[in-house]
Amino acid sequence: MPHSVTSKQVGTATLSYDGKSAPLPVLAGSLGPACVDIRKLQGELGVFTFDPSYGATASCESSITYIDGDAGILLYRGYPIEQLAEKSTFLEVAYLLLFGNLPNTAELGVFTNGVTRHTMLHEQIRRFWDGFRRDAHPMAMLCSVVGAMSAFYPDSIDTQDPRQREISAYRMIAKIPTITAWAHKYNAGQPFVYPRNDLNYSENFLHMFHAVPAEPYTQNPILTRAMDRILILHADHEQNASTSTVRLAGSTGANPFACIAAGIASLWGPAHGGANEAVLKMLAEIGHKDNIPAFIAQVKDKNSHVKLMGFGHRVYKNFDPRAKIMQQTCYEVLEALGIKDEPMLDLAMELEKIALEDEYFVSRKLYPNVDFYSGIILKAMGFPTTMFTPIFALARTVGWISQWMEMIEDPQQRIGRPRQIYTGAATRDYTPIDQRG
Ligand code: CMC
Repeated sequence: MPHSVTSKQVGTATLSYDGKSAPLPVLAGSLGPACVDIRKLQGELGVFTFDPSYGATASCESSITYIDGDAGILLYRGYPIEQLAEKSTFLEVAYLLLFGNLPNTAELGVFTNGVTRHTMLHEQIRRFWDGFRRDAHPMAMLCSVVGAMSAFYPDSIDTQDPRQREISAYRMIAKIPTITAWAHKYNAGQPFVYPRNDLNYSENFLHMFHAVPAEPYTQNPILTRAMDRILILHADHEQNASTSTVRLAGSTGANPFACIAAGIASLWGPAHGGANEAVLKMLAEIGHKDNIPAFIAQVKDKNSHVKLMGFGHRVYKNFDPRAKIMQQTCYEVLEALGIKDEPMLDLAMELEKIALEDEYFVSRKLYPNVDFYSGIILKAMGFPTTMFTPIFALARTVGWISQWMEMIEDPQQRIGRPRQIYTGAATRDYTPIDQRG
């Protein structure tokens, strides 16, 4: 089970207001900046803190993922993402995120067996798909089917039972590739392909996604390795919007499938996981290198509301370490597929070069993020653009469920409930309709 390093008090900050002073504990974890604990502030000074979009607020203690945005560092349970992407497999990383340490051979065997034996979906779920339009966005299908899982697996939704929590975690990690692949098959009008337990996690997903009954599907080891690496790179990212959504939903005691469905909904937006799809749309709209200067001018014009998709990050202000690995993987995939000339990649590289030299992006510390290159790889691997964000969701499911488990086991856990600065009308009396202007 996840180990939790409890933060320690390293000092005291004093806040004064309206003739009163409040001594506030300053807490530090194992890495990263210390945090002022303001939980008693309202009681002592009668004020709340104001931090819309939570840019300056730590919402929980967590021992899962660490990011140093200035140094471009990402650690899962202390291990640098570069090492995991190079040496590990997705299921090994999934075990690490869930349980806190890298598994030994026996532990990995038991975990792999457990995940593998949960890959099938309740047959009744198949019929759920018939209700969707053929052109339904796969994220809409993912969100609905995952949300509906509590109706199909009601024996693992008691959040207070550790064994049921564990079964739900296995079910989510094992079944999300099947749900994702079937969302595509439904869009494509092809028969659903059932999971194969003799294949590894990424092979099984690629098989369910690409195989058709009419001919054998051949795996390309470079592509299955690339798939695994893409999943590793997206597996967790501390308290981002979708993870915070999962935690907030989970804080109410909602069942794990409902919480993950909430996370999928939150991931869908173009500022978050939807960016990989938006990058390809943007590149298609730019169309040619000659159009880059006009596009950049549009991005810099605040009135246009156009963003350079795949650029910028709330936390990374130097570089996104995932983007570097993704770029390298992109070259490997294109080479494995014998693609010598990829106009999208040429365009992306030129766009990146121009943006990285432009004062607008340099002064705002805007760099390519994980989504800038992932779409080009996924496109080369034969995934339709609409499937990019579902693949992100597939990978992030293990992060969401690990964070959800950690939250439930946290003795400090209470329902999440932010406050507000109310700016509406002061108290006023009801006016009968015939007296309103
Ligand atoms: N293109 C143009 N300008 C940008 C961009 C961008 N991609 N990102 C930020 N800026 C500007 C922003 O307008 C602001 O300018 P000013 O100071 O003049 O008002 C400045 O840079 C600071 O940005 P911010 O709004 O404070 O940044 P944020 O932390 O609120 O937003 C972000 C982070 C990722 C939502 C944003 O950078 C963005 O929308 N990027 C494009 C979408 C994208 O690629 N998202 C994927 C993020 S990584 C994967 C994931 O998390 O899912």
